[in-house]
Parts: sequence; structure tokens; C-alpha cells
Amino acid sequence: MNSTTGQWWDEGKFGLFIHWGLYSLLEGEYKGQRTDNIAEWIMHDLDIPVEEYRNLASSFNPTSFDADAIVRLAKQAGMKYVVLTSKHHEGFALYHSKASTYNSFEATPYKRDVVQQFRQACDKHGLALGLYYSQAQDWDDPDACRDGYSEEGRDFSSYLARKCIPQITELLTEYGPIALLWLDTPMYMTFEQAKQLQTVIRGLQPDCLISGRIGHGLGDYMTTGDNFIPSVAYHRPFEVPATINSTWGYNKSDTNWKSTAKILRSLVKVVSRGGNYLLNIGPRGDGSIPKESLTVLKEVGSFMEKNAQSIYGTKALPLYPYDIEWGYFTAKKGKLFIHIFENKEEAYLLNIANKPLRCYRLSDGLPLSLKERTTCEGDSSWLIRLPPREEGEIDQVICVEIEEDDVVFEPITG
Ligand code: GLC
Repeated sequence: MNSTTGQWWDEGKFGLFIHWGLYSLLEGEYKGQRTDNIAEWIMHDLDIPVEEYRNLASSFNPTSFDADAIVRLAKQAGMKYVVLTSKHHEGFALYHSKASTYNSFEATPYKRDVVQQFRQACDKHGLALGLYYSQAQDWDDPDACRDGYSEEGRDFSSYLARKCIPQITELLTEYGPIALLWLDTPMYMTFEQAKQLQTVIRGLQPDCLISGRIGHGLGDYMTTGDNFIPSVAYHRPFEVPATINSTWGYNKSDTNWKSTAKILRSLVKVVSRGGNYLLNIGPRGDGSIPKESLTVLKEVGSFMEKNAQSIYGTKALPLYPYDIEWGYFTAKKGKLFIHIFENKEEAYLLNIANKPLRCYRLSDGLPLSLKERTTCEGDSSWLIRLPPREEGEIDQVICVEIEEDDVVFEPITG
């Protein structure tokens, strides 16, 4: 187990990000003008005046929203935690904040606390609850950061004391154990200000993880760039935040949906390099989830139902010396999992130094033949006979139990 993160994080590997706010009502368009950037940035990108934007709150009445159904969906997809945007850059809070009335409980006809609903659903279904909080940017507050604008005329420390710290304090005192605080876009927050925030968080909930985007290296793990997967293994904890299409908040014009195969292979790549994968959904303003996201999550769930052991509790692998396109590896103590992306009859692998003990299809334990030999060129090799694909199966996972605890790949020699 890792010293800074903890068991749910190290073993869970997979979480659901939920971007939801007033921007979701706009669906990427305001007064006939479309945004070509991520939809939750619409207020900023289309320069919507604060008072006009605030009016959106009077239309926030999400009749199709169901926190329990979203958490069940995450659980069925094999995810172990959810991270909800409790307040995004727009400044609107999805909970009953006393520090600012600009929230779902007080400023909308909905009059409900969304964080509280997720708390209950996560407790019921056994998932960890994490909260996203935009600590530096708050486009509703004249003193907070705003991308593209200088600090001049803004008193960031006033915003920090008036809104940011009081709201974070509320989130960490009124909703039980928060597994993770997902801070974002630190911008020009100084080391002292970030440190002050870290001290507040640690003081209230010492076990609450802090995302890398607190800035100044003060996070408990590294947060990669959005949708950026490290090309090599990292031996300190990291998380890759990822979208299913190209936006975080709902945008009706974004039809750039990734296939389930692509999402699954990203998950496999991320965990094989030692990270966690935080996959996003952007509910609409009425709380409903786009059907394309539902399909991906359900299909990922069918994979996880049979193959989750090739994901949970896995560790970063050493670099395999060959660039194979038909598959990828994950591994944990005494086991190598080979994820096969193509419909093939056999998998031929060179340069694995481990001693194979048993080889089987992970989904049902079907024994498979694995022939081990040293090639005439002098390299170790494995030849595994693969069973035919099953109906609807996207990727097949083969488990090879090995004599050693750790997987060892040989370098290319000769
Ligand atoms: C970016 C964006 C933001 C999104 C986040 C997710 O930093 O500012 O809108 O919430 O990435 O990783």
C-alpha cells in the first residue's frame, strides 16, 4: 500500500467524475452562440455577465436527477469512488452553503442539497465520496482568479477568507468523511495560500486526499493533464481525469463519443502505468445522463463484472521492451494479465523472464495452453492459444500465474 493515498485509492483504481452545474442548463449554447471549448467554461468563454448568468439558477429544477441511480451506475461500471463538482469555476455550489447563498438549496426552485444526496447514495452502495472544488477560479466573485485576467484589482486573500475556506470547511464538516478533495486550476495562488488551504483540509479531515491541482507540489498524488496518460510507469500515485466525449459539462453539440473499447484500453494503460482513471459524465440540466455515456458505462461494467481482478489492486509494470498493438498488460503479485484487443488465435510474446505456472481465461477460468521455449535466437518466449471471442466481448483477458511475485521483462539483446 502507498503511504500517502490509502487502500481505497490504491486498490480501487477507477472512479466516476461528475461535472454538473448551471452550465449544464446551457448545453454549450447561450443566446444562439455556441462555445467551441469545454461546456462548463461557457460563462467565461462567452463573457456572460455575472448577473445574467446568475439568472440561470431560477431554471435549475432537475426533475430527472437521481443521485442513487448515478452511484449505482458507477458501481455497476466497477468504479470505487465518485467525484462530484460541488462548486465549479462558475461559483455556484451544489449544496446548502451558508457562506454563499448562490447554491442549489437557496437560489433555485429545486431547493435541495446535491452533495447530501450523493453522500447518502455513496453510503448505501459502498462507494467513496470525493468532491471537486474550484479553489482559485470563481467567476462569480470579483476577487477570485479568472483565466486570462490579471490579479490587478482583485484581492484574492479576501475571496479565500470569505468564500473558499468557509465553503471547504462546510464540505469537510457537514457531509461525513470526504475521501478526496479534487482541487483544480491553482493559477496564481501562492505557496502560502495553498499551504493554508492544505492545513485547513488536514485539520478537518486528515484522511481526505488532496488532488495534485492544489499546486506547489502539495497534493497527495499527481493529477495528469486532462485526458493525458503518462507514456511510462510512474511509481508515485497519479490519476488521469478523462472525458467520454470532448467536454466535461454537458454540451449538446459534442458528439465526439469515444468507443467503449477505447475507454477500456485507456483504463488498462493507466493502471498498468500505476495510476487511477477518473472517467467523467456530464448530466444535462434536468439531471438525465446522455445515452452514449450510459452505454459506455454499462459496457465497461460487463467487462469489469468478469475481469475486474485484472484492474483492482494492480501495480505499475516495468516497461515491456516491444511495442505490441494487439494487447497490453496489467499485473499484481504473482499474476500477469494479458489484455487482448484483437480477435486472434494465439498470443506470442517474447522476453518475459517469469516462470509461468498456470494460464487461463480470467472471465471463467477456462484453462489455456501456454508453451514456453527459448527461441533459436536465444530469447524466452510464450505461445498462448486463445479461445474464440464470446458474444459481445470487447477485450479478452488472459491470466498467467507466475512463480515470482513481480513480472520481469527482459531487455532486447543481441
Ligand atoms: C480543467 C478545467 C475544468 C475541468 C477539469 C477536469 O482544469 O478547467 O473545467 O473541470 O479540467 O479535469
